[in-house]
Amino acid sequence: MTDTKGTVLITGASSGIGAIYADRFAARGHDLILVARNLGRLTDVAALLKEKHGVQVKTIAADLGSEEGLSAVEAVLAEDQAITHLVNNAGFGSAAPLTAADVRDMQAMVAINVTAPLRLTYAAVPRFIARGKGTIINISSIVAIGPEILNGVYGGTKSFLLAFSHSLRKELAGTGVNVQVVLPGATGTEFWDVAGLPASNLPTEWVMSAADLVDAALLGLDRGEFATIPSLADAAEWDAWEAARTAMLPHLSSREPAERYQR
Ligand SMILES: NC(=O)c1ccc[n+]([C@@H]2O[C@H](COP(=O)([O-])OP(=O)(O)OC[C@H]3O[C@@H](n4cnc5c(N)ncnc54)[C@H](OP(=O)(O)O)[C@@H]3O)[C@@H](O)[C@H]2O)c1
Repeated sequence: MTDTKGTVLITGASSGIGAIYADRFAARGHDLILVARNLGRLTDVAALLKEKHGVQVKTIAADLGSEEGLSAVEAVLAEDQAITHLVNNAGFGSAAPLTAADVRDMQAMVAINVTAPLRLTYAAVPRFIARGKGTIINISSIVAIGPEILNGVYGGTKSFLLAFSHSLRKELAGTGVNVQVVLPGATGTEFWDVAGLPASNLPTEWVMSAADLVDAALLGLDRGEFATIPSLADAAEWDAWEAARTAMLPHLSSREPAERYQR
């Protein structure tokens, strides 16, 4: 039995980054609950990891874009006392500009990339606070910093995750609940096929493997890092951005418009 390490619930674990998280947490001795729509792929991942690492692996076939799917995963998060980690990873993107994108696809993207992690976090946090321990990992993207890079709605959804993570970190300080936000750059997964721009179109020097991405992100987690950007060579660039943002905070609300807006 390995449940003393706690169970990790990972959304979008049937492929790509989520499947690698599953492998790496199983290698650390964690039991797993894997969520995605494709039960066949989930079952294959689960069988492989049980065999390879000797951990318990449950699967939940759920469409996180549906109320039924969300409620099923929320119930597990709220009730399963063994869950110690939530990895909000399921998501999809698009490379289409506004005029070429179907607005219903954009709305579906908001449901998976924003509403699902929001709902699952709200389900997990009260139990994590009650036990004084827990970890939430939100898979954002570098487009949270550069929403102009791909589809704008995709950038907006990932900016939400960065902003939400900032707030969670502040609100959960002192509760024992840890928050990490991961901002991958281009990563070699099926994401790019779904987004309509297969990764083979990108310069190879831009594209990290999912294995390298997750290993770097877990190193960041082990170091207690809040925001992990595995591709960013100079961490001081993030620190400078954060310093500029936080320096501005005390100046963002006042009774009078700034002098430049006065006639
Ligand atoms: N690859 C990149 O370049 C990159 C860069 C930055 C951030 N990210 C983020 O990384 C995360 C993982 O993506 P990936 O690169 O690993 O791509 P991926 O291989 O396409 O994985 C996406 C995962 O999400 C699941 N999923 C999609 N829609 C779902 C739904 N409605 N309900 C439940 N699960 C759903 C998929 O499983 P099913 O199809 O079986 O449901 C799959 O397991 C995403 O949030 C993505 O935005 C990726």
